[in-house]
Formats: sequence, C-alpha cells, structure tokens
Amino acid sequence: MDDRQRYDRATAALEPPFAVVDLAALRANAADLVRRAAGKPIRVASKSIRSRALLERVLAMDGFRGVMAYTLPEALWLAANGITDILVAYPTADRHALAALAGDARAAGHITVTVDSAAHLDYIEAAVADVRPRAELRLCLDLDAAYVAFGRRAGALRSPVREPHEAADLAAEIAKRPGFRLVGLLAYEAQIAGVGDAPPSNAARARLIRLMQALSARELILRRGRVVNAVRQFADLEFVNGGGTGSVELTTREKAVTELAAGSGFFHPRLFDFYRRFTGRPAALFALPVVRRPGPGTVTVLGGGYLASGPPGPARAPQPYLPAGLRYAPEEGAGEVQTPLLGQAAEDLRLGDRVWFRHAKAGELCEHFDALHLVDGDTVVEPVPTYRGEGRTFL
Ligand SMILES: Cc1ncc(COP(=O)(O)O)c(C=O)c1O
Repeated sequence: MDDRQRYDRATAALEPPFAVVDLAALRANAADLVRRAAGKPIRVASKSIRSRALLERVLAMDGFRGVMAYTLPEALWLAANGITDILVAYPTADRHALAALAGDARAAGHITVTVDSAAHLDYIEAAVADVRPRAELRLCLDLDAAYVAFGRRAGALRSPVREPHEAADLAAEIAKRPGFRLVGLLAYEAQIAGVGDAPPSNAARARLIRLMQALSARELILRRGRVVNAVRQFADLEFVNGGGTGSVELTTREKAVTELAAGSGFFHPRLFDFYRRFTGRPAALFALPVVRRPGPGTVTVLGGGYLASGPPGPARAPQPYLPAGLRYAPEEGAGEVQTPLLGQAAEDLRLGDRVWFRHAKAGELCEHFDALHLVDGDTVVEPVPTYRGEGRTFL
C-alpha cells in the first residue's frame, strides 16, 4: 500500500478538511534529530508543534529536554499543565503575563524569559513592581548570531548584543539588579539552521549559501565561545542554547553550546526538503476535499490558502503532495475558500476525493485545525487537540 492509500484508508471515516500526523514518520524524524545532536539534549521548539499532547509525546522520547516556547502566556499555560523547563525564546512585552509570572513562584521556577537589553530589564521591573511576594525571575540573554561581512548581514535581525564585551555588560547589569537571575544564553544562527543549502535548480545560489554558511560557522564558533566565557564571569549559566533543525549536527560540535533547539524537524515541512545534511519524512499533512471539476485536467479543492510566514513568494504556499503531479493555477495560487489544481493527476480525482498537502512550515498548520489525527500505519489512533483546539491562539 502506498502512502496515499494508507492515509485515505486510515481517515476514511473523517470529513476533510482535517490534519494528520503520521506517527512513524514523526518518530523517525525525532530519532534522526537525536542522532544528529550526538549526545547533547534538544530543546523542543513548540512553535513548530502547537499541540500540547504532541509536545508531551515528543518530550517523552529519549534525547529531548525542555521546551522552547514562543510567548509568555503560552509558557504560563504549559507550566500550569505540568510542563517544566520552559524557555520563552523571544522577548515579551506582556505586562499581565510578566506580573502573573512574578506572582507565581512555581511557574517562575520553571520558566525563563529572554532579554537582550537593559530596556528589557526596566520594562520587566515596571511590569512586576506591584507584585508581592515577588518570585525571582529567570533570564536568558539573547545573542546576535548573524553573519556580518563586507557590510552585509546574513541571519535574523534579533538581539543588539553581539560582542563579548556587550554580553558581559548586560550580564553585569543583570547581576546588579535584585529579582533577576541570569541562567541561560541563546544564540540562534538562522542563516545556517533555517536556510537550506540545496535550493532547487539554482546551482549558483547553492554555492553562495554554502560559502556563507561555512564562513558564518567559523566566525560563530569563536565568538559564541568568547561570549559564553565573558558572561560566565557574572552568572552561572545552566544552559547555552543554539541551532535549529537545519544545523543540529554542526551546532552540537561547539563546546560552548550545551543544548540544541529543534522544532520543524518533527513535522518536516516543505521548506526543510532543501538541505544536504539530512532528509526527513513528511509527518504532518492536511487533506482537502475535491468539490468540483471545472474542466479537463483540473479539480478544485475546498480551502487551501494556508500560507506560511516569511518573505512572500511561491515557496510559502502549501505543497500539493498526494497524488503527485498537481500544481496551482498561476493566477489563483492557494485560495481563501477554494483552490483549483491542474495536472494529469486531476483526471483520476472524483468529487469527495482527498488531496493531501504539506504546509511550507511546521506549526502554523495548527492555527487552521482544531485537532491533529494521529495515524499509525493505516489506522487513526486518536485525535489530539492543537493549541487552537484548546481555545489557545497565542499568535
Ligand atoms: C530561537 C530559535 N531557536 C531555534 C529555532 C529553530 O526552530 P526549527 O527547528 O523549527 O527551525 C528557531 C526558529 O525560528 C528559533 O527562533
């Protein structure tokens, strides 16, 4: 039985649109991340999963430790539901959530918030000023891990803290202020972890990316090490987090890094097909029903416009995956309510048949569905709620 038959059979009782996670593919992807991490623990990026039940399943597997959350309200909710060791990896300006954190000693023991400036410290202090008693807040310092050369920059625009002396200054400032404890350092090299080095049919671009990534890795191994040494003069760091799905085997080689981060690698969405260092199995799919046949070689499915974040372009659209050989109509793309699909494969599709899609990214898929139907072999074992299915939309 091929994958399409298997998915069709497993979900025969469901009415599309719905989303599934193939457990065997998820487990294989998780095992491959652990292999690539070569002994260092992987913190699980929840933005790329967005289902509490699935997060718990992943955390129960060997090789994973802690959650990398994306908002403080999310982290508070996860902590209230028994998840421990949560790093909110992006700064927060949510005064209510900060006050809730400072007022909850238990949550404050499990959650670490990220800062990159004295302005963040001032902001947090103002937000928690009236909280009594006030728990000590665990902080993580975010470092700019981008590559800068020849007046250009490759990587995400995040922290203004780049050099060892800048990190040391902020660590010293944190040490001076009561109520804060610096416990972690975070440095995410998006230009390596999040940029595939095997872009399709573009050899010149591939060469450029590989050169940039090699230079960046060389620069970062020195700078990240020096920053960690500088910060350790002022704080006992419990962790130094680096990397992502696309860089796990490279980042783990750095002595200064104590743990990796990964999220997308579990679902293995479309954008992660273009790396030389690893291949994953598509584990998260969504099914849309054929609702009409406008003409020969064309079917129309319901919905479909689940575009991924990032620079807009065709790469951010979902991939019509099974049956193979379907493509978008250029003038319409993936539509709000309906999506025409062209190609020979459309000839064999009837009303009510499913077309299986992959999202370009990982967790954003869950903002469109209440549940993920877990598929094992050719059966659905159970539906688990997404964050949205639990009434939680954090972003
Ligand atoms: C701080 C941080 N670490 C790691 C990652 C990697 O996540 P993923 O494995 O989903 O690509 C990201 C993604 O944006 C991130 O922001």
